[in-house]
Amino acid sequence: MDLFEAIESRRTTNTAFLKKKVSSEHIELLIKTASHSPSHFNSQPWRFIIIEDDMLIKRIAKIAGDSMVQLMDDGRFWKQYRKYFRFSEEETESSGDGIHIDHLPSYLKPFAKSIFSEAGGKVISKFRVSRILGNDEEKLVATSPLLFVILLTKEEYKKEELSGFYSVISTGCVIQTLWLVTTGIGMGMQFISTPGEIPENWKLISDMIEIPGTYEMMAIFRMGYTDPSVKRPVIDWKSSQRKSIKELAFKNVFGNSL
Ligand SMILES: Cc1cc2nc3c(=O)[nH]c(=O)nc-3n(C[C@H](O)[C@H](O)[C@H](O)COP(=O)(O)O)c2cc1C
Repeated sequence: MDLFEAIESRRTTNTAFLKKKVSSEHIELLIKTASHSPSHFNSQPWRFIIIEDDMLIKRIAKIAGDSMVQLMDDGRFWKQYRKYFRFSEEETESSGDGIHIDHLPSYLKPFAKSIFSEAGGKVISKFRVSRILGNDEEKLVATSPLLFVILLTKEEYKKEELSGFYSVISTGCVIQTLWLVTTGIGMGMQFISTPGEIPENWKLISDMIEIPGTYEMMAIFRMGYTDPSVKRPVIDWKSSQRKSIKELAFKNVFGNSL
């Protein structure tokens, strides 16, 4: 696949992957290409853990699903993220950002706005929305053939110092490399962020995969080969819209059109 095509067609994979192991050639390619990413002073502060063990994946999936339920039930999720939710093509188009909740079971559609609102607690519990989303999350992770974990050495990742900031940027470079390469070889990937929002759950996973105290776990992705014919999760979203160049970029000074 051409680089520009990969950049434009790269998407988060919200759906299940093919039930097929990722080949060792592809795993090697992912690590090799990731290692070519830029880092401050070529420090290469990252380390990777490739998880293929089914039991480990299932245990992490359970934590991811439980984290989703917990974040929703205590209201944190809605409070923090409500501003990113869009409910129609018009809303999505006019903001140019956020995620469009475009896939809901028909019995939930009339309540969409109230479910995804800070005041939606009653609707959420009546329709067990957090359970639906938690189950979807657990199932998606549990059925993934591979989890890709990115760590940073704490020698570089010092939160109060510039090297901490630089190593986070370097991690972003690795992530984009992985994302483009997976796109190019018919694979997909998705962040598993929910456990990261609950420090105890993040630690549970870190301990489970035996990350030493000298490293910090930065990100976990589910990966696999994409399946274009797969069914979408019960509640799902899309977010391919982008803001216009006019809104994003300026000439010489801020605010001046290109
Ligand atoms: C730091 C970060 C955290 C993210 N966390 C999640 C996540 O927990 N679950 C998820 O499905 N997508 C997650 N995403 C993906 C974004 O939602 C996605 O990139 C955005 O909506 C644009 O969609 P696209 O990747 O399909 O272009 C995350 C992306 C970033 C950069």
